[in-house]
Amino acid sequence: MNGRRRLLQGAAALTFAPAFLRHALADDATRFALGIASGQPRADGIVLWTKLTGAGLPERVTVEWEIARDEAFKDIAARGEEVAEANWAHSVHAEPAGLAPARWYWYRFRALGQRSAVGRTRTAPAPDAAASLNFVIASCQRFDVGHYAAWRHVAAEPNLDLVMFLGDYIYEYGNGLRPVRPVDGGHVRTLAQYRARYATHKSDPALQAAHAAVPWLMVWDDHEVDNDYAGLQGQDLQPDFKAQRAAAYRAYWEHMPFPRSARPVDADMRITGRLDWGTLARIHLLDDRQYRDPQVCPKLGKGGGSNTVALKSCPEMLDPKRTLLGAAQEQWLAEGWDTSRPWNLLAQQTLMARLTSTAAANGGGTYWNDGWDGYPAARKRLLDTIAQRKAPGVVVLGGDVHCHIVADLKADFDVPEAKVIATEFCGTSITSLSMAQSRLDAMRPFNPHLRYARSDQRGYMRFTLGGAQLQAQLRVVDNALDPASGISTAARFVVEAARPGVMAA
Ligand SMILES: [Fe+2]
Repeated sequence: MNGRRRLLQGAAALTFAPAFLRHALADDATRFALGIASGQPRADGIVLWTKLTGAGLPERVTVEWEIARDEAFKDIAARGEEVAEANWAHSVHAEPAGLAPARWYWYRFRALGQRSAVGRTRTAPAPDAAASLNFVIASCQRFDVGHYAAWRHVAAEPNLDLVMFLGDYIYEYGNGLRPVRPVDGGHVRTLAQYRARYATHKSDPALQAAHAAVPWLMVWDDHEVDNDYAGLQGQDLQPDFKAQRAAAYRAYWEHMPFPRSARPVDADMRITGRLDWGTLARIHLLDDRQYRDPQVCPKLGKGGGSNTVALKSCPEMLDPKRTLLGAAQEQWLAEGWDTSRPWNLLAQQTLMARLTSTAAANGGGTYWNDGWDGYPAARKRLLDTIAQRKAPGVVVLGGDVHCHIVADLKADFDVPEAKVIATEFCGTSITSLSMAQSRLDAMRPFNPHLRYARSDQRGYMRFTLGGAQLQAQLRVVDNALDPASGISTAARFVVEAARPGVMAA
């Protein structure tokens, strides 16, 4: 990006940023060019992130951080130092403790004579305290196919507590045809390349503003590593995939507000986790990439990756031994459903509702095998467990398919009167492209449990969660090619805690 364009983007950032950010962004300095972030809120702590940028950084740099109860930093709650090491891309993961629950804080960093932007963050409520939760789900922000107008609107959403980012923070691809804003470096496979790709995405001022506005909870999907990867299998069966995954996970941790305890070891990084939001909800964060079995019935001539498959020609898809979460995570989830709170939110990567493109009766149906549809026995085990444990208020949140999809999750998708077990909100992409709307429309008659399905919208979903009711707004930008795009609410839905399933608002 040339200097003039970057300057213009910076100027644009100042006009839309909330008041507390305006001053902060004006102070932005080259050593903190990728912004700041907070994540993993707890009732008494939070992770504060930044990374040092620019040429000539020493091997080890001491970075001071402080977190205050007020925007002017007159009332400091905690401060400390971290050493940013070249070995970890000069990233900083500070973990202030002893904070008060359910309260706003402001934070900033200082190093090498420069000060970072100011971020705002919020702790979780105490696990035994009454609470409400306002949050956004978002996913899939391919850089070269659009602008991040959606993030500008996320940063301006009123009364927001949290962003849940559900995967595809970067894309490893080189530029597509006619890129809206090109990425450098072609297809990404090495540590240096992954780091550079994060720098490209994080250079966007609207994305930085969304990070600086509220804490994020995050899971990854495939494109943080390799399209359609499965466990230790890359989509091209590349022999060095373990090293590639290690590099990708390392760069992910370096650029995201995860704690030091999550730092990857070789090709392993745990992102699975759980957060109790007062007495309101238990949030389960899942990883359906790292531990999954490979997709079955790949495309002819290809060893791995996804395919669209007629079930009758691929009976191995039904093998009950196959898993999307891995046995350990499946068991962890089965044992972790909360029966004391009204809501269980499942933050995970992809669409759980069945989506067949042909008639599904009598063992028919045609499925994309990379999502839950490729692992039907594992999906059935999960839904059966929800029913058996009588887990209340299960809402599955996802992304990946670049469509706004709202669905009832049922014990048997082929039986219209089958019990609804949970509710699904799969949010569309920030920018990434999807199938034609006509193709999705043609699938609707085979999938009556889908209550809303649009492939032609970019944006995010915003939720207001109370003890009795979840309210959902499907937020849609006018034009993802325009950084100044407006936004509107395309649809609203409601879910009652006591009754799974979607209702029109
Ligand atoms: Fe995606």
